[in-house]
Amino acid sequence: MNIIKIIIHQPLNSYKIITFIDCKLNIMSTAKKEYKRVTVKSLVDMKKRGEKISMLTAYDYSMARIVDAAKVDVILVGDSASNVMAGYETTLPITLDQMIYHASSVLRAVKRALVVVDIPFGSYQSDPQEALRSAIRIMKESRAHSVKVEGGEEIGESVKRILNAGIPVMGHLGLTPQAIYKFGTYTVRAKEEEEAEKLIADAKLLERLGCFAIVLEKIPAELTKRVSESISIPTIGIGAGKYADGQVLVIHDLLGMTHEFNPRFLRRYMNLYEEMGSAISRYVDDVKTKDFPNDDEQY
Ligand code: KIV
Repeated sequence: MNIIKIIIHQPLNSYKIITFIDCKLNIMSTAKKEYKRVTVKSLVDMKKRGEKISMLTAYDYSMARIVDAAKVDVILVGDSASNVMAGYETTLPITLDQMIYHASSVLRAVKRALVVVDIPFGSYQSDPQEALRSAIRIMKESRAHSVKVEGGEEIGESVKRILNAGIPVMGHLGLTPQAIYKFGTYTVRAKEEEEAEKLIADAKLLERLGCFAIVLEKIPAELTKRVSESISIPTIGIGAGKYADGQVLVIHDLLGMTHEFNPRFLRRYMNLYEEMGSAISRYVDDVKTKDFPNDDEQY
């Protein structure tokens, strides 16, 4: 714990001493502001002030409570639920109804964070009307604060239609997992100048249309820098390096639950796969050896 004393000189030679407890020096130096509720406007303000934005996924009530209490700025109900919650290989199979189920569970838990919900594959690509209908269902049925869609120019009309209805939209460029069968692999995107320029043009278009932020997934750090410097809305990176205005991770990866997934960009903060496994093994042993429940653990 750091205790920082600030002594303010007041008239008549009296001193006022203000003591901040538990303020870490590095936090103070980033001009961090306390938000009771994070809004789309807060994120743009954070970019202006140079405060980095934290974003994490959550898909259920209990996890969302913990993430929100830890003061993560943005909670993404990502279609990565298709992978980590449902066990599919890609994000393509998850349905709009399933996304709404996950999102409404998260929304019941969240008091502070801005909640963004992915519109899943097949619910916005055919035409702008379908896109708007899907976004409205998410907003109405889950009480989400905003939606996220993958792509640039090719979904421009849909983005415009959703925004015109007053629904905030987050974009997603670079590696867009809903297009994985077009890419063929999960490797880094936009290493060539042609693709990099298209990505920058798409980012500028999404900003012009009115998106409040853009996720940049798995692109070179230098390209993230170029994008972040060329638009005024925040970029949120995953595998996109240190120049993004914020960072996002899938919570199961951060906690080490997906132990077989080891991309270079991932920093693990726990090894929950092992810790949970060992706790569960101990429980099994205790049941088998009749140690659980003991006399104090029964009525
Ligand atoms: O679905 C998801 O979790 C995402 C993040 C990887 C950005 O889109």
